[in-house]
This record gives sequence, structure tokens and C-alpha cells, in this order.
Amino acid sequence: MPKILVTRNVGHEAMKLLQATPFELVVNPEDAEPSREWVLEKISDPDVVAACIMHGQPSDKVDAELLERAGKGLKVISTFSVGFDHIDVKAANARGIKIGHTPGVLSDSVADITTMLVLMTMRRVEEGIALVKSGGWPQLPWAPFVMCGPGMNHPNLTIGFLGFGRISECVVDRLLAFTNKAAPPKIVYNSSRARANQAEIDARFSERWGVDVRRVEKDDVAAQADILIVLCALTPETTGIVDAAFLKKMKKTAVLVNAARGPIVNSDDLSAALDAGELFGAGLDVITGEPHIQPDHPLVLNKRCVVIPHMGSADYDTRNAMADLCVRNAIAGAEGKPLVAEVKL
Ligand code: DGY
Repeated sequence: MPKILVTRNVGHEAMKLLQATPFELVVNPEDAEPSREWVLEKISDPDVVAACIMHGQPSDKVDAELLERAGKGLKVISTFSVGFDHIDVKAANARGIKIGHTPGVLSDSVADITTMLVLMTMRRVEEGIALVKSGGWPQLPWAPFVMCGPGMNHPNLTIGFLGFGRISECVVDRLLAFTNKAAPPKIVYNSSRARANQAEIDARFSERWGVDVRRVEKDDVAAQADILIVLCALTPETTGIVDAAFLKKMKKTAVLVNAARGPIVNSDDLSAALDAGELFGAGLDVITGEPHIQPDHPLVLNKRCVVIPHMGSADYDTRNAMADLCVRNAIAGAEGKPLVAEVKL
């Protein structure tokens, strides 16, 4: 009997979809990360035709080892994430295994968290909460410039993006609600490559939002942005692109928000740049080394840095929609049909 492997319970609704199929389910019995050996053993079963895996579980990493152990019947690996930096897609495809992911359904949710981090960082919310919790408020009462930071309504802001896909577009929709209407912001972004019709693309974006939008070089994003948002995919090319040299180019009044993947930003360089006052603050939903981040991590200790634990898509509706898409991809692949959302390189 063909089987579908599920390395973590994906919630009641999505599990019901799986249970309604003729496939036998092999489900991790714990609501916890399984051992790597459990995953390798189960995936080597020649009857396993599809696997639902998690981005946040190192046990599920799709690398040479896992692909080597995978049974000959495996047709699809469906990840419960839009990001696929934990999967060697080329190697999987070379073995005839399709990769499914969950684009689209989490864009609004991640955009919400990104916008929240922008506001928290600019308006020093982390520092404010720490002040209240530490009992320091009485020593720092209201005064004209106490707890001030840069404002979203500042005239002629420049909002910069590294990566300008679906989630970035949703962030623009949100941020424009906060910005100055008389002296509107402009948007600069860098994407992996300029398109042949780049001017046309930028004109369409500009018309859609009624503000100037243009693709520029990465260093120009660094130099021009008052708000710099990292939302590109993690690839060998983007690993560490926000490094000491990049941070030095930023405005001292600018904020950096990373809602993509930790290793795009070099943590040591960011910590040094914050200490040196090379930028105003940073907001991180993701960080290199997560989830093994201790309270004494320099970026956690830095009062100008907000660190939250990779919560971008963490609202119930979004996670259920991701679960739904994840299992639909697995079922489609198991049935030999086109995936609902296949990773195409
Ligand atoms: C995603 O979907 O890629 C999120 O970052 C969760 O890993």
C-alpha cells in the first residue's frame, strides 16, 4: 500500500484531508521533532510515495544523505514553508522527486510581522518595554525627547528592500498607510537580477502605489534606505550580503528588519554596527543559529535590536492554510498529478 510520511502533525483539518485518501499514513507520533534516524528510516520505505516535512526541523533536511536513503517510490517532498533553503531541490529533481511548498498563503501574515518590526524598531518599543519591566520608568519620566525615534510620517522617506517578491509587496501595502501623504516615500529595491523590461516593471509598481518605485543596486539600497527590509531568499549569493561593508553604507538614522532568513545578515557585523551607531536599530524575526539563541546573545542584549523567534507566519489561519497546501501538494504528487505549488528553479 503506498504511504505518505508526515514528520509532524499538521493539525486537525489537514490531517483529515490526508486520512480521507487511500494512502497509508506514517505519522510522527510525537508533537515534537523526530530524530534524524526516524526520518531516514521511514523515508527509506519503498512504499513511501510522498513526505510532508517541516522547515524548522533539522531532522527533515533534504540533503544528499536523505536523498540517498529515500525509497525508490518517493515522488514528492512537500515542505510546510514557502522557503526551501533546507532542501537540495536540484538533487531531488534529478532523482525525479518534486518539491512542493506554500507560497502566497503566508504573505499577509509575514508582512504584518515585518511591519510590526519596522514600527517597533523605529519607535524603540523593545527598549520601552524593558524600561517598564526593569522598574526604570520613574527615573526616566515623560520629557520632550525621551524615548524618541524616527517617525514613519517623516517627509520623503526611502523604503528599501532586498528581495521584492509577494511578501515585500504586501509590506509596501501596509507601510504606505503610515507614511507622509504630502511628501510621500519612494521605494528602492534590489532583486536577484534586472529584467529586460525592468523600466516597465518599475513603472507598473509606481503606478500601482502612486510613489516612485525602482530597482537599484544592492549598495544603493543600503545607502538610500531609511527603512531597509530583508525579504530575499537565502541562497549562496545572498548569504551574508548584509555584512560590515553593507552596514557601513547605511544611514545612521536607518533601521534594518530581517524577516527572511538569519544567515543573510551577518550577526557579528550587525552587532558591531549597532554598537558603533552605524544604524539606528534592527528588528529580527530570524537570526543565524536559531533556535539556539540564548539570552546573552549580543543581539538579544542590544537595546536597539528586537529579536523575535521566527514568528512571521504564526497566526492560526495562516498556519492552517500552509498545512492545507502542504498536504494537497503531497497528495497531488502521490497521485502522480501536478503539484498545487511546486518549487521551480
Ligand atoms: C517559511 O514559510 O519559509 C517560513 O519562514 C517558515 O519557515
